[in-house]
Amino acid sequence: MVAEALKLDNVTKSFSGTEIIRGLNLGINENERHAVIGPNGAGKSTAYNLITGRYEVTSGKIFLKGQDITNLQPYEVKRKGLSRSFQITNIFPKMSVFENVRCSLLWAMDYKYSFWHLVGKQKALNESAEKIIEDLNLKERRDTLAGVLSYAEQRALEIGITIAGGSEVILLDEPTAGMSVSETEYIVGLIRKVTEGKTLVVVEHDMGVVFDLADRISVLVYGEIIATGTPIEVKENKAVQEAYLGAALEEEH
Ligand SMILES: Nc1ncnc2c1ncn2[C@@H]1O[C@H](COP(=O)(O)OP(=O)(O)O)[C@@H](O)[C@H]1O
Ligand SMILES: [Mg+2]
Repeated sequence: MVAEALKLDNVTKSFSGTEIIRGLNLGINENERHAVIGPNGAGKSTAYNLITGRYEVTSGKIFLKGQDITNLQPYEVKRKGLSRSFQITNIFPKMSVFENVRCSLLWAMDYKYSFWHLVGKQKALNESAEKIIEDLNLKERRDTLAGVLSYAEQRALEIGITIAGGSEVILLDEPTAGMSVSETEYIVGLIRKVTEGKTLVVVEHDMGVVFDLADRISVLVYGEIIATGTPIEVKENKAVQEAYLGAALEEEH
């Protein structure tokens, strides 16, 4: 059996004695697009912080492609092939779009340790950066300072930076928050494009986006997964309707 791309095995997290993540079990298949939904305060961002090594788990185990990554440092998790974007933006505003992407590619290549090795690779590096910029539909903005891009373009660049390291597992936290309908469409389209052949976990409030993008959905309520399934299975799940979805869908209308 192929190891899951990402697996959380009975993970708990307490802050000052209060258990926020209460026995989280989650399996993400390779190459799937998996959405995590749930009410505010359910523990979605905390779960991300546990997976990426920003917080230590209180108990339980986390595996990346079968490898134990529990409580590794964030840079070690990243090096093993898992990358996340932040709700707050992570770009260098005084650098151009091209330089931002190039810089994140350099970081991912660990250039400090392989400078001489890298000298002959400038061309390949520049080509990779151009390709990512093209995938983001930001070609016309290639030489624009990142700080003057529109909000949606900045988020697109952010996603580009997240995937630039070549990570196979990508975690996105509310990528369409604060966007108009057309901006949301643009971002969803490019998420679909840049995560082709990769594994995506996305926390998202917009149910339209969730049902459009996700192969499977997990519902997190009070630090526990109450259901995992296809969009249709989750929509029809009674416990989900009671705990969350009924209210969330009503809000949309
Ligand atoms: N560093 C922290 N210290 C104490 N409590 C925290 C910390 N981070 C998150 N929490 C608490 O954990 C709960 C879940 O928060 P969060 O993971 O941000 O929820 P979500 O992303 O699902 O909205 C909240 O009650 C929040 O106050
Ligand atoms: Mg959150």
